[in-house]
Amino acid sequence: MPSDMSLEQFFARLWDDYTAMTPQASRIHDALVADGETIVNDHVAFRTFDRGPLRLADLEPHLLALGYTRLEPYDFEAKKLRAWGYLPPRADQPRVFLSELKCRELSAPAQEIIDELVGQIDPARIASPEVLWAGRLWETPTWGEYRTLAEESEYAAWLSIIGLRANHFTISVNHLRRHDSLEKLLARVESLGLSINASGGRIKGSPEVLLEQASTLADRMPFTFSGGRVEEIPTCYYEFARRYPDAEGRLYQGFVAASADRIFESTDARPDHAG
Ligand code: NI
Repeated sequence: MPSDMSLEQFFARLWDDYTAMTPQASRIHDALVADGETIVNDHVAFRTFDRGPLRLADLEPHLLALGYTRLEPYDFEAKKLRAWGYLPPRADQPRVFLSELKCRELSAPAQEIIDELVGQIDPARIASPEVLWAGRLWETPTWGEYRTLAEESEYAAWLSIIGLRANHFTISVNHLRRHDSLEKLLARVESLGLSINASGGRIKGSPEVLLEQASTLADRMPFTFSGGRVEEIPTCYYEFARRYPDAEGRLYQGFVAASADRIFESTDARPDHAG
C-alpha cells in the first residue's frame, strides 16, 4: 500500500463513504457537535467473506501498515463469523473490528452464489487500502440470490449488495461530556426520530463485562437488483460504546462477543423491534 496515506486521511475517506450510505450518522454527529460535544470514535467495523481475494487475512495487512496491532480473535458460532480486534497506533484513534463469514458453513447453493460474486473481483483492487471503502467489487446480485443468502445469513446478504466499506462507526461515550451515559445518548438519538436496535435489549453488555454498547437500526435505501427489481434494503448504522476500567484501573480495550452478536442484527432486513 502507499505509505503516504495517513490514518487521518484514511478515516476521512472512510467516513465520507459511510455517511453517503448512512445519512443518519451525519445527523447524529452534527446534533452532538451542536450540543457542544467532541466526537471520538471508539471503533469502526468491516465485514468480508472468507472466500476469494478479500479474506480477513488479505485485508489485515492494510491495517498493520497503518500502524494497527492485533488484539485478540473472536468467534460467533451461531452467525458463522470469525473476527479480530485491532488496536490503533494512538489511543485517540479508533480501534478496528474486522469480521469474515465462514462460507463453508453455508449450504452449497449459498456458497455457489458467494463464489460467483468473489470470482469477479480484480485482485489488483485488494492491493490498495482504498479497497476498504470500495463497496461492491462484483455485479449486482439478483433479488433471488439475495433472498437465498438472507435465509441463511443476513450478514452474507448485506455484504452481497453493500460490499466492502465501514459497516459502522462507533461514538466513544467516554469522550462525551453532556451525554455521558448510554441512556442519555440514546434518548438524544431518539429525539432525532431515529430507532435503536432493541435485539437483546437496548444496551448490550454491562459495567461488569467492562463494555456497554448500543446502536441504531441501519438506514434503509431503495436498491435495484440485477433484473430490475427494486427493494428497500438496510445499509449501515451508528454504534455507541462506553468502556470501563478493569481491576488494575486500565480501560478495557476488547470487544464482548455476546454483545456484538446482537449488534450484527442492526442490518437485518426485518429487525426485531420488540426484542
Ligand atoms: Ni461495533
